[in-house]
Amino acid sequence: MNNIVGRFWIGIVLFAQVFASSCREEDNAIKTDGVYAPTKIDPTIIFPKEFGVPSLPKDNPLTIEGVYLGRMLFYDPVLSIDSSISCASCHKQEYAFADPVAFSNGVFGLKTGRNASALFNMAYNKKFFWDARVNTLRDLVFEPIQAHNEMSMTLPLLKDKLLKINRYKEFFKKAFNSEPNVFDMSLAMEQFLLTIVSKDSRFNQFFPGDNISILNASELRGAFIFNGLVDFDANGKTKGSDCFHCHGGELAQQNNISMGGISNNGLDMNFEDLGFGGITNLGQDKGTFKTPSLINIALTGPYMHDGRFKTLEEVIDHYSDNVNYSSPTLHPQMSIHGGKQLNLSQQQKDDLLAYLRTMTDNVFITNPKYSNPF
Ligand code: HEC
Ligand code: HEC
Repeated sequence: MNNIVGRFWIGIVLFAQVFASSCREEDNAIKTDGVYAPTKIDPTIIFPKEFGVPSLPKDNPLTIEGVYLGRMLFYDPVLSIDSSISCASCHKQEYAFADPVAFSNGVFGLKTGRNASALFNMAYNKKFFWDARVNTLRDLVFEPIQAHNEMSMTLPLLKDKLLKINRYKEFFKKAFNSEPNVFDMSLAMEQFLLTIVSKDSRFNQFFPGDNISILNASELRGAFIFNGLVDFDANGKTKGSDCFHCHGGELAQQNNISMGGISNNGLDMNFEDLGFGGITNLGQDKGTFKTPSLINIALTGPYMHDGRFKTLEEVIDHYSDNVNYSSPTLHPQMSIHGGKQLNLSQQQKDDLLAYLRTMTDNVFITNPKYSNPF
């Protein structure tokens, strides 16, 4: 490389950096002259220090154009066979991208077989869906698009539909220098999904616990119950309920599979849904499911893979009073106290609930970066 060319490239890089930092992820940064010059997004702008920068797919760098394309696709019903259902039909921002019904409506009045997951902080996840059957978001998006009871689309038809829409012609060009196609579509959606971050709950301001003044007395007692080991006092009352083993850390989620990231929390004796066991065919995995994050939990009911609990009160009653200790694959952490129900007092239940409610992130659910762009 000779000097002049070298300087030219340095100039471009500097320009790109200034450009990136001056306009960040603002939509108005998107150039409309049809030139292929996607603007890379600095991950430290997206991901908070407290969470750290996750390991992102190296072959799909986040760009302003790619994320925006992914966001358009997420909200576009054109992805379904009869153009009636978008991803956002089942993943609604006001509910932290979950759906307030046990089973969601897909095309032709069909319903999903599981409860729609909340969507945020996915960049920190390595397994997706309740049964942890998919490892990347780019692979994942093809499932709802093609599932007969969700969007029921075929990929050739989807490509044809996208090719007919001017804004997609324009944005595939800008983001990937391509004509609309389903592979780049999956990359764009991966980019958008990776950027969905929830970090502004009071729980996140409190965590890891230095900032005690953030919580009121009841919430603070709830924090001790949540993060306390099970230990019965002289009257047989428990002091802690050990939620943190599976829902711990700043993400309120254990991602390590062998540490409770996929587990059986004692719902059933016989499994109607085999969960992870349906994927691995191993007895030890039957009835185990991906452990969800509890951030925004007050917004994402009904709860569990089948939406069986309508309220957080019911969830707490489950963990306190109704754990099925005979469940064959029960996670050891659930029965560490010798198969004795926690029997939390009403006050303890109220405190635990108050703590779970601090996990709601109201900034997140109205953040225009994730909202419908149309
Ligand atoms: C008809 C409702 C419906 C539609 C439409 C839908 N989803 Fe979902 N989504 C679900 C359900 C139900 C689950 C849980 C399925 C399971 O675990 O087997 C889910 C799970 C997910 C997950 C897993 C989250 C996690 O942390 O494990 C992601 C990501 C996701 N959907 C993204 C999308 C995207 C992107 C689209 C559009 C291409 C989409 N969904 C369309 C209902 C829907
Ligand atoms: C052994 C690991 C483990 C422990 C300990 C644990 N959980 Fe869970 N939790 C899970 C798993 C796995 C699920 C999903 C189960 C399913 O849907 O079948 C879950 C689901 C939930 C849900 C519903 C999430 C949703 O999006 O539907 C809530 C709320 C919850 N747990 C709260 C708690 C609380 C509160 C405690 C402490 C009292 C606790 N958990 C202890 C593993 C655990």
